[in-house]
Amino acid sequence: MSNVKKGKDKEWLEAQLDFCYEKIRANLKTFATLVPPAASCNQIYQPEGNTDWTASFWVGQLFLAKEGTRTNDFDQVIENQIASFQNRLDQKIELETHDIGFLYILSAIADYQVNAHQSSREMAIKAADLLMTRYNEKAHIIQAWGDLNAPEQRGRMIIDCLLNLPLLYFASRETGDKKYYKAAYLHAKQTQKYIVRDNATTYHTYYFDTETGQAKYGKTQQGYSDDSCWARGQTWGIYGFTLSYLYTGDTSFIETAIRVADYFIERLPKDNVPYWDLIFNDGSNEERDSSSGAIAVCGLLELAKALPLSNPKREIYQATALAIIESLATNYTTKNLPESNGLLLHGVYDKKSNTGVDECMSWGDYYYLEALIRLNQSWQSYF
Ligand code: GLY
Repeated sequence: MSNVKKGKDKEWLEAQLDFCYEKIRANLKTFATLVPPAASCNQIYQPEGNTDWTASFWVGQLFLAKEGTRTNDFDQVIENQIASFQNRLDQKIELETHDIGFLYILSAIADYQVNAHQSSREMAIKAADLLMTRYNEKAHIIQAWGDLNAPEQRGRMIIDCLLNLPLLYFASRETGDKKYYKAAYLHAKQTQKYIVRDNATTYHTYYFDTETGQAKYGKTQQGYSDDSCWARGQTWGIYGFTLSYLYTGDTSFIETAIRVADYFIERLPKDNVPYWDLIFNDGSNEERDSSSGAIAVCGLLELAKALPLSNPKREIYQATALAIIESLATNYTTKNLPESNGLLLHGVYDKKSNTGVDECMSWGDYYYLEALIRLNQSWQSYF
């Protein structure tokens, strides 16, 4: 039985959280205005400017630490980071990406939610307007990457985008303009229809004809093969479909989240931390992706919460989330590697291009902390 269940819950969780807070405090100077890159290099994040899709996972951790410790210790760096996100939006620095969602949910929306700054509300709406420019009215999808006319990227949507949709749902709620909601909803429907296969595995990406709106074919970018199931994509699906259910009330999304979650759970190896592609399992020499384990904990907890008390899957999802977090906390953190400035070891960014393999991932650190916070206190998601 997991430690978290044995009644040591609070003490055990607080010890894990204290470890994270201490690391984050130690990082405040290095990342006062700069940010950790997507992945560490030999387990150390080298500071960089606010230009990548992952830049907000640091300020996201600061908001979690602020809420978790109930102190103002993180406020100055949060303020610096929010100014940097405002500048990035004003100057449109490297924003030809659907990840405007991750970027402005964990900066602008979190700041509005936690600090009630009106300027951050405006920033989030302006970011949502920019994300809307990537929406294709014919295909009903948000293009993931690059210039809208780039032949390689035109009409390509990806499962990760489900986590970017809350920026649009937020903008609709705040402005009363349904256009954002409609785009997010239709994009989620297309993801459900084309990205999720009949056996509940998922494609990473899917191409559409932007002139006719016709769906074309699925293709992987970071998975093992076009017909395998990239672990992180599957966990973006668990969390993402649950979020679209919560924002729209469309119960088919919760059914899809359940199918995607059940497949993921079925493919977990003995120690409950997934390999980087679910095609691999116990006995494989391939790497784990701890970051997808952390995302899964958040997604499974949100999914369990959304199910009726009478649904037996609720307990299964909660128990699996606890088993994953215990495994991560016991064997996957930097506790025994004090020189590392990350939280969670053994993530994989992109195995095929040999980028960030067996390293700390900035989003892995964020979702690991979000998972612990979810288990320890009542907390309102930024997504
Ligand atoms: N959203 C890109 C990734 O998960 O690597």
